[in-house]
Amino acid sequence: MLKKTFACLVGTLTVAVFAMAGFGQSGPAILTLHPDQPVSTVSPTLYGLMTEEINYAYDGGLYAEMVRNRTFRGDWSGILYWYLVEDGNARAKMSPDATTGPSTALASSLKVEIEQADEHNRAGVLNQGWWGMALHHDTEYKGSLYAKADSANMGPINVSLVNDVTGKAVASAAVNGVGTGWKQFTFTLKTGAMEPSSTNHLVITAGHAGTLWLQLVSLFPPTYHNRVNGNRIDLMEKMAAMHPAFLRMPGGNYLEGDHVRDRFDWKKTIGPLVDRPTHRGPWSYQSSDGLGFLEFLEWCEDLHMQPLLAVYAGYSLAQDHVNPGADLEPYVQDALDELEYVTGGADTKWGAERVKDGHPAPFKLTYVEIGNEDWFDRSNSYDQRFTQFYKAIKARYPDLLLIATAPVKSVKPDVIDEHYYVRATQNFQEAHHYDPHDGSTSSPQHWDGGHFDTVDRNGPKIFVGEWATREGTPTPNMGAALGDAAWMTGLERNSDLVVMASYAPMLVNVNPGGMQWESDLIGYNAIKSYGSPSYYAQVMFASYLGDHTVASNLENGGAKLFYSATINTAKKQLYLKIVNASSDSQRLEIAMPDARPKAMAKVVRLSAPDTQTTNSIDDPNRLVPVEMPVHDVSSKFSVTLPAYSIQVFQIELQ
Ligand code: AHR
Repeated sequence: MLKKTFACLVGTLTVAVFAMAGFGQSGPAILTLHPDQPVSTVSPTLYGLMTEEINYAYDGGLYAEMVRNRTFRGDWSGILYWYLVEDGNARAKMSPDATTGPSTALASSLKVEIEQADEHNRAGVLNQGWWGMALHHDTEYKGSLYAKADSANMGPINVSLVNDVTGKAVASAAVNGVGTGWKQFTFTLKTGAMEPSSTNHLVITAGHAGTLWLQLVSLFPPTYHNRVNGNRIDLMEKMAAMHPAFLRMPGGNYLEGDHVRDRFDWKKTIGPLVDRPTHRGPWSYQSSDGLGFLEFLEWCEDLHMQPLLAVYAGYSLAQDHVNPGADLEPYVQDALDELEYVTGGADTKWGAERVKDGHPAPFKLTYVEIGNEDWFDRSNSYDQRFTQFYKAIKARYPDLLLIATAPVKSVKPDVIDEHYYVRATQNFQEAHHYDPHDGSTSSPQHWDGGHFDTVDRNGPKIFVGEWATREGTPTPNMGAALGDAAWMTGLERNSDLVVMASYAPMLVNVNPGGMQWESDLIGYNAIKSYGSPSYYAQVMFASYLGDHTVASNLENGGAKLFYSATINTAKKQLYLKIVNASSDSQRLEIAMPDARPKAMAKVVRLSAPDTQTTNSIDDPNRLVPVEMPVHDVSSKFSVTLPAYSIQVFQIELQ
């Protein structure tokens, strides 16, 4: 992930003792560090992940399903992403059929009426995938479909992956035994020698006249940890490099939906795929719910992170709400069931359901969030709704820590979720927001569009559940990364209070029409992905997380120099994160009067010639962190901070 340049002199950071340092016009900044004086704890759960079904993050993104609209939903234009195939003189038509399907949840299907076809003149349908289908050489793609026909004479159904450009099949399989009742069939499509490409589609045809019905047509490439119904390997690897401690799931607005009926109704997202009805998400498209509740939990398991579970709390985006009291009780019960599904043993009703779904072991759960951004609820019912959930959950799970999404008065939440979507300049100004000297107050706080205007250190702990510097599209540029990094120094310095934080959103499909929200951490198309400069800032900060901040003092830093200094006590490593957001390089003298650092340290640096420099799907590695040794470190040394740079120094202490 990090470019290593240990071997070459070019990649070596030169340091100088103070006497030798040549200072810039305004003189050097002076940073004094006392690694032996811990100040406050750094939360081990500080950095986590936040995403949801937005920007084709799951369907068409992380969830590795290659078939788009596998359940044949249509609009006025027809069945989306599916097209009729009539080879040679074959004649057929396709239409939605609301009268038959393989399950109660999927009670409709695609009807393909083949008037004329034979072995050489086949008829059927094709699927375009998520802006194509990515194929690699010598790879197995596992498929399945539900089918039935109007007679047992339909003969074998052919399933092929076909290149869009050549029209040639690169892998094919036969599905035999389609009869008059619904049945699931599986198949494997194996590619041979070929250039990797995403310009491919899936074709399903018959060589016989008759009527064929199809439902839940699915195709998966190899997945992360080889999970059936699993996730894309490249995206999971990118997330793993972020060392996330938690996943805020299932999302922000995605939890709520536009209306109560569109909420993330977790019980409808578990069990066999054929029993999942799919649902309308708030970001203008239907969710397959293939990445359902258990898959979220398994994603956590795969990346060694804890779920931070948000439960639906009776408010949906179109000002739809459930009245506190008796009306809300079924939703409270639903949340209790959800917690039991996550944490319960096989001897509990919902724990047993999880076992049945294939996961015997319960999951560890510490934090539960009640709702999402409930300050938007104009009925002002959140205080009562939160309290109702709080009492019911605490009565059954006293150890769970409960997060409020807006101010409440009737009970004291354990944690409050604050959101910040800003520009880089604001993050430079707000980098000290949580510092004790800056705004700690006992006077009434005001909730200011997603967060409190001041900090109450005697109040609930803080979860910065959504934040981002929004500059750059579809993914943030270096200017945004500098804003992010400045902000993160403040989170680290105050991580005794800010116990968790998650950048949002994380994922964007960069194809035309793929993005609903600008400035997302990781971009991708069907075949490849890349990290933005902001992504690398996250990787750098989370990779070097100490357990305590240390006493420090910065003089002459200027308005665009930010830092945090933490120590990993067990490893005796000091992590100094320094952000120079200025267009000028800057000299920095580092003094550790009471420490004995080892002479050799290392620095990881992300820097750019301009704030607008960025990575893209076609230029993914323009800005990546570079790792270099730092020689001659002593209790007094100086370094040059390049313009527009984010750096992490790892200094070994004796
Ligand atoms: O992260 C995008 C959206 O921003 C989230 O869904 C919502 O919680 C917030 O308003």
